[in-house]
Amino acid sequence: MTDHILIERPENAPGVMVIRLNRPDKKNAITRAMYQAMTDALTAGDADEAVRATVFLGSEGCFSAGNDLNDFMAFAMGGTMGREVIDFLHALAAHGKPLVSGVDGLAIGIGTTIHLHCDLTYASIRTEFRTPFVDLALVPEAASSLLAPRLMGHQRAFALLAAGDGFSATAARDAGLVYAVVEPRAVEEQTLAAATRLAAKPPKALAIARNLIRGDRGEVATRIDEEAGHFAAQLKSPEARAAFEAFMARR
Ligand code: COA
Repeated sequence: MTDHILIERPENAPGVMVIRLNRPDKKNAITRAMYQAMTDALTAGDADEAVRATVFLGSEGCFSAGNDLNDFMAFAMGGTMGREVIDFLHALAAHGKPLVSGVDGLAIGIGTTIHLHCDLTYASIRTEFRTPFVDLALVPEAASSLLAPRLMGHQRAFALLAAGDGFSATAARDAGLVYAVVEPRAVEEQTLAAATRLAAKPPKALAIARNLIRGDRGEVATRIDEEAGHFAAQLKSPEARAAFEAFMARR
């Protein structure tokens, strides 16, 4: 259990389960325990008929600074990575309920790629999406190397995932990563309203429509594993370790 992930069932959003990243003092960097808590919530949401839509939210001004770099460093130094990240990615990709996300501010690494699995994403005008994988001597994850080029074409996917270019909220909307750009104070309200509308629809018809639109998930699961193999190998590289050390020593 960790209170860095809050599972909420808002009264004003019937049928909606919210998974909220709640570690604002660390910019919502995601630890192994947080991944585990999110996996547990996704699994429980799948099994609960009362959950008709699942929402990801972060904090005011920060969705997430990505994977906790201390966990990466621990693995780079010979520790274990555990199953938490990979289990979360598979639970995310296989989740059976509509996924809606609301983003305000920083969205780095998995804080960006998580939205490739969402059906609707609302981002505030001040949001910046960024995946500095290669700058950290790492590679894309969460099947982003498959989903992003499909969504936005090769060049924009390359700019995001390989060149590490930041995407503003409007650039992300133009690229298809974001459904709507809204004012910061409206992110949660609009995200919950969208999820509530979905939750009120006939669930079976919505699930079939969603599955048809999303297509074959087997390919996504295979790519998650393929990327994870490269990711783990790169985490052990001297370049990655140097990048984590530089982050930790930056003050
Ligand atoms: N892992 C672990 N801790 C992180 C973190 C991460 N990914 N991102 C931020 N934090 C922590 C910082 O260490 C700091 O903790 P401290 O106050 O105990 O020193 C706290 O969150 C606030 O971060 P700080 O860097 O002071 O805030 P900032 O506004 O100056 O910068 C970021 C915010 C997100 C731009 C910067 O923290 C950053 O670049 N983080 C790393 C992002 C990253 O590379 N993620 C991995 C992607 S694969």
